[in-house]
Amino acid sequence: MPRYSRIIGTGSYLPQRIVTNAELETRIDTTDAWITERTGIRQRHVAADDEFTVDLAEAASRRALEAAGLDKVDLIVVATTTPDRVFPSTACLLQSRLDIHGGPAFDVQAVCAGFMYALSIADHYIKAGTANTALVLGAETFSRIIDWTDRNTCVLFGDGAGAVVLKADNTPGILSTHLHADGDYANCLHVPHGVSNNLASVLAGTAFVEMSGREVFKVAVQKLGELVDEALVANGLERSDIDFLVPHQANIRIITATARKLGLPMERVVLTVAEHGNTSAASIPLALDVAARRGDFGNGDRLLLEGFGGGFTWGGALVEWRE
Ligand code: ACO
Repeated sequence: MPRYSRIIGTGSYLPQRIVTNAELETRIDTTDAWITERTGIRQRHVAADDEFTVDLAEAASRRALEAAGLDKVDLIVVATTTPDRVFPSTACLLQSRLDIHGGPAFDVQAVCAGFMYALSIADHYIKAGTANTALVLGAETFSRIIDWTDRNTCVLFGDGAGAVVLKADNTPGILSTHLHADGDYANCLHVPHGVSNNLASVLAGTAFVEMSGREVFKVAVQKLGELVDEALVANGLERSDIDFLVPHQANIRIITATARKLGLPMERVVLTVAEHGNTSAASIPLALDVAARRGDFGNGDRLLLEGFGGGFTWGGALVEWRE
């Protein structure tokens, strides 16, 4: 019997505070028209000072576990670039909050492609028979590594968390996952300081995201286009076999380019970028949860999930949706 992992529950959480483009207009030299036209973003959620990545992760996890009808899982994988502590991992902090003990729990760091990495790892655990159930998250307080006076970056990002629960099954499920990285692009999109290199900057709260926007845009469109072909070829499918695109919500223009590559009309593309902004690793599971709870997906629909981020890293998954 073939063994697959299947998504049996989704959940998400967004912090209460909303920062609109209009509010940013009062703080930096920008306009709602510029941000909307270039990115599609109208607002973003920002965590409260006493709200941390694990808090967002816990809220999203509880919703996903409730939807799945489970209170325990064998494996927890959290994709995050903004962990609460240097160690232990956010996954370990989350495991304790959820009163789950003993199974593996770890973080994955692939920035905006992090959820694709986490999902692929958990899928392999389940396919190999190492786990029967898994909780997979993207959770970020990206606002903490943003320079809110830098108009090139601060208009783009927001905070949030999204989660899925996977379970082993004999019917798909996740059909395939595809991961890539090219570290030659490390300096195009990065926080140049860390624990090992200039800890003083981190402690001073001045370790911020820096980005060559045009280079990110160009390579993202190219690599995500290639990913579409890779996922289709791996499964012997045509473009017309894909029912929905669930993309990383970085920028409406990158998303539109990938939809065009797939020949998908925009009503078949899950869009949350206007309301959420770019929540890095959280954006794909957040979008998935919004669409799943809205009832967008039907039994057997094929979903292409894809993300691109710092590294550069990029990845995707082809998923057959089961109700
Ligand atoms: N408000 C007003 N003007 C701005 C702003 C702003 N918030 N930000 C930049 N500008 C100005 C620039 O200073 C520049 O002015 P100049 O011509 O006087 O020098 C002008 O706008 C044009 O800047 P560009 O960088 O050329 O603008 P572009 O059309 O490339 O759009 C953007 C910028 C939106 C960042 C685009 O390059 C992009 O979307 N890149 C992808 C980046 C991305 O999505 N990063 C997220 C992380 S990676 C990921 O998740 C995929």
